[in-house]
Amino acid sequence: MIVISKVKELERTVDALRAEGKSIGLVPTMGALHEGHLSLVGRCRKENDVVVVSVFVNPTQFNNKEDLRTYPRTEEADKALLDAAGCDIVFMPTVEEVYPEPDTRVFDLGAVAEVMEGAMRPGHFNGVAQIVSKLFMMVKPDRAYFGEKDFQQIAVIRQMVKAEGFKLQIVPCPIVREADGLAKSSRNVRLSAEARAEAPKIYDTLRQSLDYAATHTVAETQQWVIDTINSFPGMEVEYYQIVDGTSLMPVDNWESSDYIVGCVTVYCGGVRLIDNIAYKTPTQC
Ligand code: PAJ
Repeated sequence: MIVISKVKELERTVDALRAEGKSIGLVPTMGALHEGHLSLVGRCRKENDVVVVSVFVNPTQFNNKEDLRTYPRTEEADKALLDAAGCDIVFMPTVEEVYPEPDTRVFDLGAVAEVMEGAMRPGHFNGVAQIVSKLFMMVKPDRAYFGEKDFQQIAVIRQMVKAEGFKLQIVPCPIVREADGLAKSSRNVRLSAEARAEAPKIYDTLRQSLDYAATHTVAETQQWVIDTINSFPGMEVEYYQIVDGTSLMPVDNWESSDYIVGCVTVYCGGVRLIDNIAYKTPTQC
């Protein structure tokens, strides 16, 4: 595995491999890697000749300075995990290398970026689009891998790819969970022992809501999830929205789409956690 910190060197290295006819897969991350990230790397390894993983805590997507300052950084452990996972090239640049001057680009991300996370974290998705588009331009991957844990992020990136005319395949990968159901996240290390013990109740509630939904409306199910999670000590739901899995627009009944997903954000002991669950998934042909 080679570790690269300079954009020019990354471009040169990947261009040479592409010229040999090799397919290139990219996994963008912000480091503090766990099995969720590594599942993306594993899938990328299977489907491409060359695996590129970026590890970069992107300042432009943080709308909270404290969150950026305290974001976990574990570079040495990340390199060891990536080496073991079969990564070929890890790109670990500085902020100055990626943003030699401020990035003022404003992306046309459409309605998918306005709801849920987009409404709660102004500018967040534009920052994600800035870094991901830069990575796509540097690496020119055939495929890029993203986790369904950040369900809305995938929809936003698909929209960015369309608006910018990138030619690559976006590959969504399923959520990896702890044994007790908590979605793995770099932010889980911030949970106190009490909050960590409560946190699995988020996914428990989402799962139970699948049964509840069988005999209740969308609005009733939405409210039930909010009330149930809010009843747990130290937990506060920021939003729970049941949406069309493609457009991310709210659905008003269970028949209105064949792809329906519930997306939740919860403050658990003060730590912001996100998760989601599918009520209906389109049948694959
Ligand atoms: P980060 O939070 O580091 O996540 C990197 C990738 O790993 C994302 O695609 C995310 O959805 C995926 N991931 C995280 N936890 C996961 C889990 N438990 N199961 C499956 N996949 C999981 O998302 C970002 O970084 C950034 O916004 C980025 C796209 C890198 C742009 O800066």
